[in-house]
Amino acid sequence: MTVFPPAVPTAQDTGADLVELYLRHIGSGRAVMGRVMGGMAEVRSEGCWIHTDDGRRFLDFGGYGVFLLGHRHPAVVEAVHRQIDTHPLASRVFLEPVAARAARALAAHTPPGLDYIHFVNSGAEATEAALKLARAHGRRTIVTTRKGFHGKTLGALSVTANATYQTPFQPLLPDTVQVAFGDPAELEAVLASRRDRACVIVEPVQGEAGVRIPEPGYLRRVAALCREHGALLVVDEIQTGMGRLGTWWGVDTEDVRPDVLLVGKGLSGGVVPVAAMAATEQAYAPFSRDPYLHTSTFGASPIACAAALATVETMEREDTVARAAALGRRVLAGVRAVCAPYLGGLVTEVRGRGLLIGIEFAVERTVGELLLELIARDVLVNHSLNANRVLRLTPPAVVEDVALETFFRTLADALHITAARMAV
Ligand SMILES: Cc1ncc(COP(=O)(O)O)c(C=O)c1O
Repeated sequence: MTVFPPAVPTAQDTGADLVELYLRHIGSGRAVMGRVMGGMAEVRSEGCWIHTDDGRRFLDFGGYGVFLLGHRHPAVVEAVHRQIDTHPLASRVFLEPVAARAARALAAHTPPGLDYIHFVNSGAEATEAALKLARAHGRRTIVTTRKGFHGKTLGALSVTANATYQTPFQPLLPDTVQVAFGDPAELEAVLASRRDRACVIVEPVQGEAGVRIPEPGYLRRVAALCREHGALLVVDEIQTGMGRLGTWWGVDTEDVRPDVLLVGKGLSGGVVPVAAMAATEQAYAPFSRDPYLHTSTFGASPIACAAALATVETMEREDTVARAAALGRRVLAGVRAVCAPYLGGLVTEVRGRGLLIGIEFAVERTVGELLLELIARDVLVNHSLNANRVLRLTPPAVVEDVALETFFRTLADALHITAARMAV
C-alpha cells in the first residue's frame, strides 16, 4: 500500500486568504458563513476529529450523517488507495468486478428481495433514479411527505417539501402531492384516487425535518396502503440507513419491504462520495433490461464502489450497527440529562433513534447561538435544513468514552452560556 503524507495547509490555504478566494470564486454567502463560523480552514481528519489550519481539533458530531465510520476509516482508505493504484475509473466497456462485488455486499444487507443495486454519486441522484424508475412503471403521481427531504436536483427538489428551496425553481415536476408525515389518513385518500398510478417516497425518520420519528406502525401502514392501491413504495434511507438508526435500515423495525430503497451518506465510509438505489427485481426491470436508459459517466466508478465495498465489509467486521445502537442509547440519555434543566423552557424536546438525535428549542435563534458556542469549544454539530428550531447530532459509531464525556461537558457549558444570553 502506498502511504500518503497527511495534508498540511499551505500559506495560501489559510485564514483571510481563503475567505478571499471564496468571495471571488465560490460565493459570497458561503464566504460569509465560513467567516461567521470562525474563518478556519479544515485540513485533516481522522475518526471523530477534524483539524483546522490554526492547529485546533474539533470533535465532529455533525457531518450531516455521513461519518458513521468516522473520517478516513483506515480499512476504507486502504481499499480506495489500492483501487487508485490499480484502476480508479473504468472504460465502461468491460465488466467491473468491484462494482459487482460492492452490489453483492450491499444487497446482502438490504431488505429481502431488494437485490438490484444502481450506484450513483450523491443522494439526490439516487432520488432521481427512483423518480425515473417510478415513471417507467407508469407511476406519474409522486406522493411525498411535508418537510420531507430528498435532495436538491430539479427532480429531487420536486419532492423536497420546503418552499424556500422550491419557490425560485418553479415549475418543478408536475403531479407531486404532499401529505402529512406520520398520519396515513391523508395518504390513503390520495392513493385511493390514483390506483396503480402513484409512487410514494418517504423517510423512516425525517432527518432534515428535525429528527421526526413517527409512531410505531406508521411505515407498515404506508406499505400496506401502497400494496392495496398499487403504488410504488420508495423509502429514502440516505440519512437513516447504513446503521445510523442502530439498525441497518429504518424499515427493519417495522419489517417493511419497500420496492425501492435509497442509500447514501454512510455508504461512502467517510472517504469517497457514493450513493445507491436498491430495488426489487420487478421494480428494477426497466433499468435491468436497458442499461442505457439511465446512465452517468462516473456512476458506479471502481473508486466509489471500492469505498462502498470496504464500508460494508468494515461494518460487518466491526459490528458497527450494534455499536451505533449501544452508543446511540448512551448519547440520547446523556443529552437528555444535560438538557433536563432547560426542558419546558429553552428546550422543548430531545428525541432520537440510534445515532440520529435532535434537540428542539422553543426559539429559532437558539440553534445558531448554541452551534457557535459549541464551535468556540471545539465541537461541531448541525442545524436541520427543514426545521429551524432543531439542532441535529449525527456522531460516528467510533466515538471513544473520553470524547463522549468531553461532548456532554461541552454541551452543558455551551447550553448554560446560550441560556443566559437568550434570557437577556
Ligand atoms: C433523506 C435524504 N435524502 C436525500 C438527501 C440528498 O443527498 P445529497 O445531499 O447527497 O444529494 C439527503 C441529504 O441530506 C437526505 O437526508
